[in-house]
Amino acid sequence: MNATRSNNRFHPFSIAIHWLTLVLLAVVYALIELRKYYPKGSEIREGLKTWHFIFGLTIFAIVLIRIVVRLMHRAPPITPKPPVWTWPFREGMHLALYLFLIAMPILGWMTLSAKGKTIPFWGLHLPPIHIVDKALAKQLEATHATIAYVGLALIALHTIAALIHHYILRDDALMRMLPERKG
Ligand code: HEM
Ligand code: HEM
Repeated sequence: MNATRSNNRFHPFSIAIHWLTLVLLAVVYALIELRKYYPKGSEIREGLKTWHFIFGLTIFAIVLIRIVVRLMHRAPPITPKPPVWTWPFREGMHLALYLFLIAMPILGWMTLSAKGKTIPFWGLHLPPIHIVDKALAKQLEATHATIAYVGLALIALHTIAALIHHYILRDDALMRMLPERKG
């Protein structure tokens, strides 16, 4: 179990996936933002959207694996122990981040399904998860967009909290999420 690891870090797989998710999210946001600079229907715009879908679904796949690994390995304790009242905020924030990583790809997948469009995934076409319903597709797309911005706010708060732990509380919360240096 992670809690008994002498180096007091998250499982190496969890650490790798945590930082990979950050990179993938940056790519997913950048791709969809960049589409605005190209005319509707253009090949580049459609390509950027397709890669947004593919990388977004990749985030979905890896968050599911991540949750399984996390259930198998407990989070290592933070040293020195942060005040007890901070615990629900930390747990609540992590839960919200996991929900965001699950909800966004499902909403995107449902949007494409309701639009009657194909769902590309690394050379495959995934099955639709909703019947075609153009009105619903609009609502789903709007919800997907709103949660995308809520997610950015959550990530900003989460990053600030990590920096407060490191520089103000001076505990090992952040170090536990960094890869171990050899030697
Ligand atoms: C964590 C993963 C994801 C994030 C953070 C994300 C974020 C975003 C953002 C920021 C937008 C632009 C919203 C706006 O117009 O202001 C967007 C649009 C969209 N996303 Fe995602 N997305 C994710 C995954 C997915 C997935 C997996 C799919 C589909 C399989 C998808 C389908 C769409 C669609 C259809 C649009 C509208 C694009 C258009 O036609 O202009 N998204 N997404
Ligand atoms: C520069 C940006 C980031 C920093 C500095 C950072 C730092 C950290 C730290 C220090 C922890 C351990 C917190 C603790 O145990 O109390 C953590 C956990 C976590 N981070 Fe991040 N993070 C960043 C970005 C992200 C992003 C983009 C996501 C995904 C949306 C994310 C999702 C999570 C989740 C879900 C956990 C909980 C892990 C668990 O206990 O299962 N983080 N992060």
